[in-house]
Amino acid sequence: MDSQSGRIERLNRVVVGLQWGDEGKGKVVDLLSQNADVVARFQGGNNAGHTIVIGDVQVILHLVPSGIFHPGKICVIGNGVVLDPYVFMDELKTVSEFGVDYTDRIFISAATNLILPYHRLADGIEESGRGKNGLGTTQRGIGPAYQDKVQRIGIRLADIFSDARLHDKLETQKRLKSPWLDRLPDDKKIDFEKIYSDLVGLRDVFRPMMTDVSKLLDDAHRAGMVILYEGAQGAMLDVDLGTYPYATSSNTTVGGALTGLGIGPRMIDEVVGIVKAYTTRVGAGPFPTELDDDVGKRLREIGGEYGAVTRRPRRTGWLDLVQLRHACRINGVDKIALTKLDVLDTFDEIKVATHYHCQGEKLETLPTDLCLLSECIPDYTVFAGWKTSTAGITSYDDLPQGAREYMDYICRELDVKLLLLSTGPARDHTVLV
Ligand code: GDP
Ligand code: IMO
Ligand code: MG
Repeated sequence: MDSQSGRIERLNRVVVGLQWGDEGKGKVVDLLSQNADVVARFQGGNNAGHTIVIGDVQVILHLVPSGIFHPGKICVIGNGVVLDPYVFMDELKTVSEFGVDYTDRIFISAATNLILPYHRLADGIEESGRGKNGLGTTQRGIGPAYQDKVQRIGIRLADIFSDARLHDKLETQKRLKSPWLDRLPDDKKIDFEKIYSDLVGLRDVFRPMMTDVSKLLDDAHRAGMVILYEGAQGAMLDVDLGTYPYATSSNTTVGGALTGLGIGPRMIDEVVGIVKAYTTRVGAGPFPTELDDDVGKRLREIGGEYGAVTRRPRRTGWLDLVQLRHACRINGVDKIALTKLDVLDTFDEIKVATHYHCQGEKLETLPTDLCLLSECIPDYTVFAGWKTSTAGITSYDDLPQGAREYMDYICRELDVKLLLLSTGPARDHTVLV
């Protein structure tokens, strides 16, 4: 166990990304898992790539909660998640190769919708159909699987245990999707027989994992266990409150934890927002502080900003307080974890957007119509760079004055407290405040 972890209070925390994803949720959840008993994913699917670094080893998790590397911790996947059983099986293999024993430790809601091969195919077809308005999805079938859920034709985990129900539901899929399934070229045709037999073949794997997650969490809570709720993506990708349509298909904000797990609000003590010290975005959509220049390139190279799922280069830009004010409000954020501060170490100056100019108005919060974000021009405040290494620093007192001023300013402007500061990818590259 990390030497500092005893200093983190045992609370039921929700961890959510406050930007466009990839803020460092995996690292922070792995770290906070040490002071929790249960770690629960509540939305998204394998569009998520959560990186954990243990010693010299890097692991990227897509579905399994980021607490899995702590022996004995219970890992839960809620009904709000869309689960690709093929990807999940691969991930079980990966964690086993790292010496993890997951027996009796992973539990999945009976109501979790499955991502099946036709969803992945539909993701590609829909994306090309959008033409120049493409979203740049991860092509993992996320959107189409959530469409089926809302259309009430999704195949849920519990369905694989009934021959008749599974057969019937796959027939419905075939019927309703026939307009495009029938037009697929022979080499792309979906083999429904194979999907049926694959799912039946996975019953033994899923039987011990399938449960009533809501009840499991309630029982754990009543027994005094501490629960850590792990969000995926980030606030600006929330399907309701983000930069729609350039968003994902789930509620990435705090409400998603309630509906995605079947819990009440009193099972959450603290909302922790993860903020990267600058901004990145993968995929299409407005990004007011984007840097399309050498500074942006340096942020990408120093920060290793390449997608953990698709390896696409991430778009980069300065920190944006206007965007973050929105993200803090829609999540009711109590504290933030500021990550990747070390990436800024060599910059001569560091900028932070404080407000926007949009259609002749000065804005401190996002425009009412978020589509106007593409027309917003940010105004910046400029900090002198601290120009010394913060990489791996673990104590507040060792931080350069400039770095302290930068983080104090962010917390003041957002009216939040700082839970921790991350100065490197590993667990112990952390300053607990
Ligand atoms: P997530 O999706 O929010 O879990 O974030 P990702 O794993 O997709 O991307 C975060 C990347 O930054 C990963 O490669 C992490 O190993 C790395 N990382 C996390 N925290 C820090 C940090 O404080 N400093 C540096 N340099 N890298 C970090
Ligand atoms: P984590 O959990 C960053 C983006 C995609 C695309 C949009 C819609 O690692 O932070 P989707 O496949 O969800 O339909 O794609 O959302 N996106 C992410 N960007 N981090 C993620 O997850 C993301 N998950 C989806 O790039 O723009
Ligand atoms: Mg990621």
